[in-house]
Amino acid sequence: MHVQIDGINLALEDRGAGIPILFIHGYPLSRRIWDPQIEGLADVARLIVPDLRGHGESDAVPGPYSMDMLADDCLAVLEALDITTPVVLCGLSMGGYVTFAFYRKYPEKVAGLILAATRSGEDSPEGKANRDKAADQARKGGPSAIAESMLPKMLSPKSYGERPELVQSVWEIMQGTSLDGILGDLMGMKSRPDSTPGLRNIGVLTLVLHGSDDQLIPPSEAMAMRGAIPGARLKLLPDAGHLLNMEQPQRFNKAIREFIRELQP
Ligand code: MLT
Repeated sequence: MHVQIDGINLALEDRGAGIPILFIHGYPLSRRIWDPQIEGLADVARLIVPDLRGHGESDAVPGPYSMDMLADDCLAVLEALDITTPVVLCGLSMGGYVTFAFYRKYPEKVAGLILAATRSGEDSPEGKANRDKAADQARKGGPSAIAESMLPKMLSPKSYGERPELVQSVWEIMQGTSLDGILGDLMGMKSRPDSTPGLRNIGVLTLVLHGSDDQLIPPSEAMAMRGAIPGARLKLLPDAGHLLNMEQPQRFNKAIREFIRELQP
């Protein structure tokens, strides 16, 4: 289905019943990364799974897409679906940055947090320079140039070497992202604030999920977040890289089931 937000069409899935979980994908991806969760979790929760602006089947508009803007899009999705009860946010990587922005702006609308393959810090000076380089690369070579250079790092070396169908789906998702979406994300991520100081004030149950072989964001980031967020749980999934939810869907979904049980005993 689609919802219209400020004249922009956002595509989304709305499946299952129970406590709402809003799944927020990363860069340069789409809601299709969450297919294994739509398959495996619709019996325990209501799964709201949008394509962010510029991604998947949502409209592409010029950026920058600040993390606050993407968080506001997510809130507008919930409002369009008449969801008024607090929701669980599950953000992967850039989706985690959006999750921090949402929680900062609308803490009363959040029942729990799932932080997957993400980090709380802002970009280092070198990271910011790399955003500019990636933007140049995208302008010159288009989305496929970005997809090609990122593909080997999105999965664990094992999945990349042994699972050609998974590699192909990740490739298709990435190269299907619009140029506006890629540039909008890059500029938005480059200017995002440091969410680390706010971690100690997080007042909802939080699950940190990370792949032990993540080549883009090291597991040490997940351990640091677990240490800083009061009462946070951490699960490190073996044989999983950055897209741990696609590489280890059963383990990922099991962790979410346990989290939901803990949230709603
Ligand atoms: C993502 O997967 O969303 C990105 O790798 C995050 C980033 O580039 O910081």
